[in-house]
Amino acid sequence: MNNTVVVGAQWGDEGKAKITDLLAEYADVIIRYQGGCNAGHTVVVNNEKYKFHLVPSGVLYKNKFCFVAAGTVIHPETFLEETTELKNRGVDLSSLKISPLATITLPYHIDIDGISENSSGKNKIGTTKKGIGPTYSDKIGRYGLKIQDLYDEELLNSRLDAILPLKNKILEKVYGTKTYSKEEMFQYCKKYAEIFKPYVCDEWVNKLSSSLKEDKKILFEGAQGIMLDIDYGTYPFVTSSNPIGGGAATGSGIGPTHIDNVIGVTKAYVTRVGEGPFMTELLDETGEKIRTIGGEFGTTTGRPRRCGWFDAVLSRYCVLVGGLTEMAITKLDVLDTFDELKVCNAYRDKRNGKIYNDYPTNINLHKYLEPVYETLKGWKTDISNAKSLNDLPENARKYLNRLEELVGIPIKIISVGADREQTIVLENPFK
Ligand code: IMP
Repeated sequence: MNNTVVVGAQWGDEGKAKITDLLAEYADVIIRYQGGCNAGHTVVVNNEKYKFHLVPSGVLYKNKFCFVAAGTVIHPETFLEETTELKNRGVDLSSLKISPLATITLPYHIDIDGISENSSGKNKIGTTKKGIGPTYSDKIGRYGLKIQDLYDEELLNSRLDAILPLKNKILEKVYGTKTYSKEEMFQYCKKYAEIFKPYVCDEWVNKLSSSLKEDKKILFEGAQGIMLDIDYGTYPFVTSSNPIGGGAATGSGIGPTHIDNVIGVTKAYVTRVGEGPFMTELLDETGEKIRTIGGEFGTTTGRPRRCGWFDAVLSRYCVLVGGLTEMAITKLDVLDTFDELKVCNAYRDKRNGKIYNDYPTNINLHKYLEPVYETLKGWKTDISNAKSLNDLPENARKYLNRLEELVGIPIKIISVGADREQTIVLENPFK
C-alpha cells in the first residue's frame, strides 16, 4: 500500500496540480477531497494548458477512477462549465464521479460571500468570492443541501422548508439582498440534478472499499494550502476547509490508516493571495522580480500574488500539522537569476529580541516579529532543462540540501518548469 496525499504546504498555489498530474499517471484512483471552485489547478501537457477548479486533473489520463468526494463543495454551474470545456477539448470524462454527499454551493452562498467581502473594509479576508465560506458554514450548521437531496422530491421539499425561511430572513434583514422563493429554488435544483446526474456515484462505498481490497494505488488531491486551513492556518485569513493531510481522511471517506505518504508541495519561495500575515513577504523590487519571473497571478481570480523568501519556520509547522512525510519543491527555476537567496529559519521579536524557532500560531503577535534570514549563493544558471540532480548547479543543490536540513524531511520531487517533462523525480511513491 502506498496511498499518497498531495497537499499544498504554504498558502496555496504551490503547483500541486503539476505534482498530482505527474503521480496520477501511476495511480489507479484519484480523489479530490476538500475545497471547491476556489481552487485553480493549472496543468501543462505538450504546451497545452488545462485549468481545473474541481475536476481532478487525473482525468487527462485514461481509465483512472477520478472522484470528487464528500468533503468538497460544488458549484453546479462552474462544474458544468469545467466539464463542458474538457469534453470539448476531447477529454474522456466517463471515469469522473462525484459523491452524493458533496455539498452544493447555492446562488445565495455566492451573494453572501460577495456582500461580506465588500462590506468588510480593511477587515476583509480577500476570498475568491466563490461562496466557499457560506457553503461550508451551512454544511456545518446543517443548513446545507447535499447532491443526494436533489433526487428525492419529498426530501428536497422538506430540506427547502427547513432551509429557506430562515435563510431568506437573513438574506433580507442582514444582507439586504435578494431572497429565493421555494419555486425558484426547485427550478435551480431541477437544473442541478441534470448537471450532476451523469457523474453521481451512489456506489461510492463499494468502489472505494474494493479499491482498498484490490490494493489499488490511491492519490488524494488536496486544494489550497496548509496555512489556509480553517483550524491550523492564519485564522481568520483562511479558507473554510481542511487542506492539512488529515483533511484527506475526513474529506474522502477513506480513513487515516489507509494513508501512507503525505507530500507537501512547497514553492522554492513563498506566495500568498488575499489578506493575512506573511512573515517573509517582500514589498520591494525583489518581490516584484519573483512575481514577474514566476508569473505569480491567481489562476481563479487573476489577482497578483504576494511574494517572499522561503520560510523554514512555516514549513516545519506544516510538517507537524500537515503530517508531511516529504516535500516536492516547485518553481526552483524562478530563482535562476538571483545573486543571493535568503531563507528564513527563525522569527525575532523586535521588542525584546526573543527568538521563535516554532511558528507562533497567535497571529496577533506577528506584527512584532521579523524574519531571521541566512543567505545562500544563487546559481545564476538556467536550470529549466535539468533532468537529474546531477544536472543542477552546485549552488542549487546546496540550496535544496539546506531546505531539507531546516525543514527536517526529504525532498523527493523538484520542479524546474511548467511542463510535465521539467521535473526531477527522485522517488515516486507509486513506482
Ligand atoms: P475562499 O476559499 O474563497 O473563502 O478564500 C479564503 C482565502 O483563501 C483567501 O485568502 C483566498 O485568496 C485563499 N484561497 C482560496 N483558494 C485558494 C487557492 O486555490 N489558492 C490560493 N489561495 C486560495
